[in-house]
Amino acid sequence: MVSYKEILASNALINDSATALRVAVFVGGTSGIGKFTIQALVATGIRVKIYLVGRKSSRERTQAFIEELHTLNPKAEVIWTEAEVALLADVKRVCELIQSNESRVDLLFLTAGYAPFGTRAETAEGHEVVQALEYYSRMLFILRLLPLLSASDAARVISVLGGGMETTHLIDLDDLDLKRPGNFRVYRARPQYIAMNTMTLDKLASENPDIAFIHSSPGAVNTGNVRRGWDANSIVGAVFSGLVEFLTWLIGFSDDESGQRHLFDSTSAAFGGRGMPWTGKAGITTTGKSAGGLFLVNNKCDCTPNAKVVGQLREKGQEKLWDHTQILLGPYL
Ligand SMILES: NC(=O)c1ccc[n+]([C@@H]2O[C@H](COP(=O)([O-])OP(=O)(O)OC[C@H]3O[C@@H](n4cnc5c(N)ncnc54)[C@H](OP(=O)(O)O)[C@@H]3O)[C@@H](O)[C@H]2O)c1
Repeated sequence: MVSYKEILASNALINDSATALRVAVFVGGTSGIGKFTIQALVATGIRVKIYLVGRKSSRERTQAFIEELHTLNPKAEVIWTEAEVALLADVKRVCELIQSNESRVDLLFLTAGYAPFGTRAETAEGHEVVQALEYYSRMLFILRLLPLLSASDAARVISVLGGGMETTHLIDLDDLDLKRPGNFRVYRARPQYIAMNTMTLDKLASENPDIAFIHSSPGAVNTGNVRRGWDANSIVGAVFSGLVEFLTWLIGFSDDESGQRHLFDSTSAAFGGRGMPWTGKAGITTTGKSAGGLFLVNNKCDCTPNAKVVGQLREKGQEKLWDHTQILLGPYL
């Protein structure tokens, strides 16, 4: 475990000359872990431009947060960038906007999503909403912004979901979108979307060795996330959420610690060798290397390569998933 003291010491080294982080895109930074990480990043006092991508319904609430950030660090420019990120056409539009304004992106931080406890619901484009948020939209952001990420000296992509928790048991490689009757259940969808993230990130990481890819497992953080995925007025949902929130309050990370830990993931040389100097144990990718691959990073900021399972997923599902993803994302690329 990387202690909180070590995390804070590393983050305290971040300043304008020590970091190459100048342009960041946060998708999901209107609340929870993305928001806490933006706060920690801005509090370093560096000159940074942050595209905060969020949906219209959160615009008003987020304006107050942006004003707070500006007071905290007038050198940080936080740009509200409106998009319905569950819709791939809107992801395409917003990526084009960022592409037209920037020549590089140093950090892409992806957190939109929640556990789909309730009934299957689909976006106007026909994708299950949580799968759109946690997989298709995230991968589309990466693929569209790859040229800008490649133009950075030390680019990093972080997808926050469940890195290291991959399993081969509960996932269905013959029904990737869980459309068959009875197949869509939270205990299947959660591992399915985690495995899909890891398989595609693992492929993209191996093809883009100069970009550090991280799939983070954030542990328990009391963000209200557990309440999101239930059907309206579900009594089971209210009781379950209350119980989980109590446990999270007992054993979870505070907002601040979660933000600082994800800032460490975003900046430390522990993951790939570039970034804030790190003398502790170097992170290990899913292929056992210290750079040029995917880091599965847990809530304690340790790497959990889950090599056996990831190897099986790579062998059995990666190409199939890639073909499927390309067909689905093709119109938006
Ligand atoms: N918190 C935890 O303990 C925990 C544990 C394990 C895994 N995770 C996973 O880690 C990721 C980040 O978690 P978090 O707790 O930071 O999440 P969160 O605060 O509940 O939500 C993160 C973001 O998702 C966006 N979002 C939710 N539903 C949306 C929709 N239908 N359309 C567009 N945007 C939507 C939210 O936008 P709005 O602000 O507009 O609502 C927010 O920006 C999630 O995938 C979560 O499932 C979290």
